[in-house]
Amino acid sequence: MMTGNFPTDAFQRLETPFYYYDIDLLRKTLETIKAETDRYGFEEHYAVKANANPQILKTIASYGFGADCVSGGEIEAALEAGFPADKIVYAGVGKSDKEILLGLKNQIACFNVESEAELLIIEELAARQNCKARIALRVNPNVDAHTHAKITTGLQENKFGINMEQLEEVLAIAKRCSHLEWTGLHFHIGSQITDMTVFQSLVIRVMEIQDALEAKGITVPNLNFGGGLGIDYQHPNHLPIADFEGYFKVFGTLVNRRAGQGIHFELGRAVVAPCGSLISRVLYVKEGVVKRFAILDAGMTDLVRPAMYDSYHRIENLNGVETEACYDVVGPICESSDVFGKDRMLPTTKRGDLIALRSAGAYGEVMASQYNRRPLAPSYFSDQL
Ligand code: LLP
Repeated sequence: MMTGNFPTDAFQRLETPFYYYDIDLLRKTLETIKAETDRYGFEEHYAVKANANPQILKTIASYGFGADCVSGGEIEAALEAGFPADKIVYAGVGKSDKEILLGLKNQIACFNVESEAELLIIEELAARQNCKARIALRVNPNVDAHTHAKITTGLQENKFGINMEQLEEVLAIAKRCSHLEWTGLHFHIGSQITDMTVFQSLVIRVMEIQDALEAKGITVPNLNFGGGLGIDYQHPNHLPIADFEGYFKVFGTLVNRRAGQGIHFELGRAVVAPCGSLISRVLYVKEGVVKRFAILDAGMTDLVRPAMYDSYHRIENLNGVETEACYDVVGPICESSDVFGKDRMLPTTKRGDLIALRSAGAYGEVMASQYNRRPLAPSYFSDQL
């Protein structure tokens, strides 16, 4: 079985489980994104929710990207890591007053507003602070992302964004508010999208919305297309960098960009998922009646995606010899859903073997919990081991 390129000797000395980040791969990915966004004059605001590890954030910030945040905590983490406030955008259906005030105090680039109710509160708080809030309206474009139901956001039935029918009315209200400066429209339709025709549909819908507004004399200063580009979870060793070229080309080709218009993106997963792995040790191999289990010291508390979304992560035995057997790879947590993979072919596996759960750099460490009173897994970086 082919495995990723890991410093296995260094791993042998470390207590498991832990997250391991390949910083070379992260840098190569960031260089690719930079080259593609520069080619079209686009701006990337990294979606901090995917991975807020300070080292990772600092590395991303050093490439000059902005940040997309969904909480006050993320705004603070982004500022600490060196993302400039004027490149921070802030989305979320439930921003608290405290979080809005934090954004106002730091004069962030933009609040992506998701409802009329929120708009009026930002106006009120900005008036009280005697400042102006830059806002964009997040529009629900009713485009189906054809991805997992739990990570689809751009349909009318989802809680996110303002429905297209209500857009003009909410925009008119925004324009009447003296402490708001309307900067444009924001969209995000879902995550782990690998079918480029979905992004084509998004652009076409957004162009229709732009045309309709222009027909009423309203020009849109900025368009933010959100994130959502997926990665290849099946083949992390062969395809470690997502198809940024194909992705940005869709927008470069189809967006009818107006003079001076800013075009923004908020990719998260595609930036950080491939560079991270959760490294674990086999505690026991249990021979059941119908199944053979490899029981790891990492569980759903460390990486919840398989339990929560049935998501696939490639599992590699880093000590493996070539004879193969079939395993259900599970964690130690007292929950039946604490399963990383069913019926996986692995090299014959024994107690103490190191196991890598691949492509765990996005929505891995950030979603960890301390359920069962477990400590949070630490993280290590390829340039420090
Ligand atoms: N912008 C907004 C407004 C978002 O809600 C998201 C993700 C992103 C950008 C970044 O999307 P990305 O490029 O990472 O697809 N925990 C789930 C994914 C939840 C995504 C939530 N929003 C998972 O592990 O699959």
